Amino acid sequence: MCGIVGYTGPQSAITPLIEGLRRLEYRGYDSAGIALGTANRLFIEKRAGKLLNLESALTATPPVANSGIGHTRWATHGGPTDRNAHPHVDNEGKLAVIHNGIIENYTQLRADLEARGHVFTSETDTESVAHLLSDLRKSHNGDLSAAMREAVKSLRGSFTLLAIHADQPEVIVGVRRNSPLVVGLGNKENFLASDVAAFIDYTKRAVELGQDEVVTITPVGIEITDLEGNKLVPKEYEITWDSSAAQKGGFTHFMLKEIFEQPKAVADTLLGRINADDHIVLDELHLTNDEIKSLKKIVVLACGTAFHAGMIAKYAIEKWAQITVEVELASEFRYRDPLVDSQTLVIAISQSGETMDTLMALRHAKSLGARILAVCNTNSSTIPRESDAVLYTHAGPEIAVASTKAFLTQVIAVYLIGLHLAQTRGVMTGHQVREIFEEMSELPAKIEQILETVEPLRELTRGFKDSNSVLFLGRHVGFPVALEGALKLKELAYMHAEGFAGGELKHGPIALIEEGTPVIAILPFGHEHGLDEKMLSNVQEVKARGARVIVIAREGAEVTGAEHIIRIPSASSLLQPILATVPLQVFAYEMAVVRGNDVDQPRNLAKSVTVE
Ligand code: AGP
Repeated sequence: MCGIVGYTGPQSAITPLIEGLRRLEYRGYDSAGIALGTANRLFIEKRAGKLLNLESALTATPPVANSGIGHTRWATHGGPTDRNAHPHVDNEGKLAVIHNGIIENYTQLRADLEARGHVFTSETDTESVAHLLSDLRKSHNGDLSAAMREAVKSLRGSFTLLAIHADQPEVIVGVRRNSPLVVGLGNKENFLASDVAAFIDYTKRAVELGQDEVVTITPVGIEITDLEGNKLVPKEYEITWDSSAAQKGGFTHFMLKEIFEQPKAVADTLLGRINADDHIVLDELHLTNDEIKSLKKIVVLACGTAFHAGMIAKYAIEKWAQITVEVELASEFRYRDPLVDSQTLVIAISQSGETMDTLMALRHAKSLGARILAVCNTNSSTIPRESDAVLYTHAGPEIAVASTKAFLTQVIAVYLIGLHLAQTRGVMTGHQVREIFEEMSELPAKIEQILETVEPLRELTRGFKDSNSVLFLGRHVGFPVALEGALKLKELAYMHAEGFAGGELKHGPIALIEEGTPVIAILPFGHEHGLDEKMLSNVQEVKARGARVIVIAREGAEVTGAEHIIRIPSASSLLQPILATVPLQVFAYEMAVVRGNDVDQPRNLAKSVTVE
């Protein structure tokens, strides 16, 4: 997820661009850059790191320009370096492009363009678009809008693109597909941005763009067309948010915004991950097929929520790839004498890529000869840098301390690894892998369905605000979900909460049940061992002792003994965590709100724990 902004009008463009990028830094801060449209040439400045680095590079007075584009990056392809920072330009340095999203077919595009003599200077997918647009603009007699319309027809993936050319600097052209772009309508000035936060201080008149719509802005007006060049009527609306709310997309808290971003985060993490031959594509994996076939076991290292994703990995990878998976708290593994060697694959899961416990455990495993695969949401952070291979989740920046979308994408990532290992080790066929991948591709829509029922769930939660403790029960892959639900409630509502394996209840924890104890039971999605019936027996056991039971159950499942049932869409039993976790995130969020806590920055916690 990156932040993009464009301006054309009577002002010096540098101010609305930099101020716009500042408002969008929450969307990514690996690098920042601008292209200013001056007569017959572009002024380009870009720097790795936060916006401040770009601003200090601009202290020497930049040229006066009345138009330009700006970008703040969340790196996907290519590390956060000056060279990979946007904007990217063509070989003449006269056309600049900025991009939010993923161009799935960029490697083929790049090969074709290099064959046509284009010289590339970065590792990004975006640069291919700059060279492609440069060729197409020439073949369209300098019409940048027509060039954009044609370029989009050969792009696959999700993207928002802005382009500017030195020959017509007052013209900025944009397009979107599965990635946001909004127009700001000013007085003899116009804006383009990833979201209204970038220009809300200049204008509250906005126009939302639809899929594959191309917009051209100049100081005197805007034009929107489809890819065939047919003009479309702009749908103008009034922005009602203030600038703070705008950065949260109108949500009250970043956490709620990130809960609602989960469909797209899951979709983006799946994007381009299977090819036409039904092979899982994990191009950053850097493990040869022979290395994968020679593996004797897998050890997952992680902390907190990431550890819960690792627990789910065990169920999925052992079932699909039929290889032993051990899941270890990084802070414990670090001080043991684990049986790890060159035939061990260690999977280090970390959203931030900076968690010291996980980093030290990874180093310990590496010293014992293990191969390290990082699953990480932060490009080029320390953990991926010290690993042999990496699989990046594409959740985009997760601002709230309580991890939500990163967790779901970590689970998706370990599912992809499990399928890849199974296929490479000859345990699963391409058809079997395709079937599971197709079902995973349905998950974003199913998460959307759950999010449509958020309000009744938030109201239900408020009824438990005075509880002292909440217990969570799960079985099979629902057990890590129970642990995750309990962790969310602890860290957000400051309540005692505990997750149990349902089968463990009778071995002690049931003594905790008293009149009115809230218990949330996650009903397995049907299972060859009849685990749902066993969970319903757990429900009866705790209800008989006075518990108030909330059951998370798939549509159509028979449920007895519950005071409340939260229905979620069904899926295969191993994919349940992606769906069952969402109501628990909302439950914890609402409990924090109703108890007046700081939702995005809960007490005593940090987003990245860089101490042991
Ligand atoms: C999750 O809500 C917490 N913020 C915490 O448990 C977190 O998952 C843990 O600190 C690991 O962080 P990482 O994924 O960045 O390594």
